[in-house]
Amino acid sequence: MAPRVAFIGLGRMGLSCIGPSADQVRFQGITENLLRYGDIAKPLVLYNRTTEKAHEQSLRLGDCDLAESIPAAVAAADIIWLCLQDQAAVTETFDLIFPLDIRGKLFVDSSTVTPAKTNAIAQRVCEAGAEFVAAPVMGGPPMAVTRSLICIASGTAEAVDRIRPYLHGVICRKVVDLSGEQPGRALLLKLMGNFLIMATIETVAEAHVFAEQSGIGTGNMNKLMSAMFPEPPHALYNGQMLSGEYCSGRPMVEVSKAITLVDEVLDLAHACGAAVPIYETARQHLQDAKDHAGPDTDITGIYGAVRLASGLPFSNQPEEDI
Ligand SMILES: NC(=O)c1ccc[n+]([C@@H]2O[C@H](COP(=O)([O-])OP(=O)(O)OC[C@H]3O[C@@H](n4cnc5c(N)ncnc54)[C@H](OP(=O)(O)O)[C@@H]3O)[C@@H](O)[C@H]2O)c1
Repeated sequence: MAPRVAFIGLGRMGLSCIGPSADQVRFQGITENLLRYGDIAKPLVLYNRTTEKAHEQSLRLGDCDLAESIPAAVAAADIIWLCLQDQAAVTETFDLIFPLDIRGKLFVDSSTVTPAKTNAIAQRVCEAGAEFVAAPVMGGPPMAVTRSLICIASGTAEAVDRIRPYLHGVICRKVVDLSGEQPGRALLLKLMGNFLIMATIETVAEAHVFAEQSGIGTGNMNKLMSAMFPEPPHALYNGQMLSGEYCSGRPMVEVSKAITLVDEVLDLAHACGAAVPIYETARQHLQDAKDHAGPDTDITGIYGAVRLASGLPFSNQPEEDI
């Protein structure tokens, strides 16, 4: 029999609102994909701290039940899937879950937290007779919409198998399968994935500034980059930068949130003796973007910071040929 699923956390990933303008917004986050493409028992149970978001999504999707509290969401489901902002949100949520009878339930966490915290939560979940899968994702809201996320899954093989039908083709295009490994290992790899992303943003930003300053121009660099790296993430950040969205669009990830995460990754790198100079440079540019354009600037504001460091204005002029 198909399991009952509750989803906790209707943020950009759970909800995804994508659209060039307010009247063309499209909502199709992980929740819609679970409902449309996953073999789950209907209705899908939704819970969000800000109730209106869950209420509006349930009206949009149909086949949803609104849970009025976290205990109510947990009681109504066999699989409880979380996608929350940060460690504090995950900790607060599990503080409400641990006093409940959770025997036989499966908790899936797609939030980005630290490996140690994930292991500690997973251990308590398992001691209470439930199962836990860490399922952090790579890829932003646009990729959540198109089911092209990459999901890194770890936990016992049995627990990962229980959510396998909801991963590939349902919420993501690829699974990095760490089944049989401790849940925190998925988070360690996810944070290293973030390292790759930050390094990519830094590279794309520096390449465009170099092109502009050298006189070859960002249009030509765009042609080269599109030929060499036509897929996301290069293509995504390339577009964000040259279109000017890096300083004027809706943020995919705010610099203030990114800095918190980057600092966690730097701590992990330093603790194991790994030298990560590219990452330290990107960290400084995130700080510069935050100082110049505010905490809600998108992470691709790194481009603005590299421009400033090169004597250019933070904001660029959108180019005709993008
Ligand atoms: N956005 C991305 O590009 C991206 C990509 C890959 C992975 N991720 C990871 O996916 C997770 C979700 O990201 P997102 O962009 O969807 O985040 P988001 O838009 O900031 O949404 C955060 C969600 O967490 C809830 N929340 C925050 N603090 C809470 C608390 N103390 N108690 C209960 N709920 C709380 C929010 O509820 P309210 O609506 O009430 O605020 C909201 O539902 C994060 O861990 C992020 O690192 C994000």
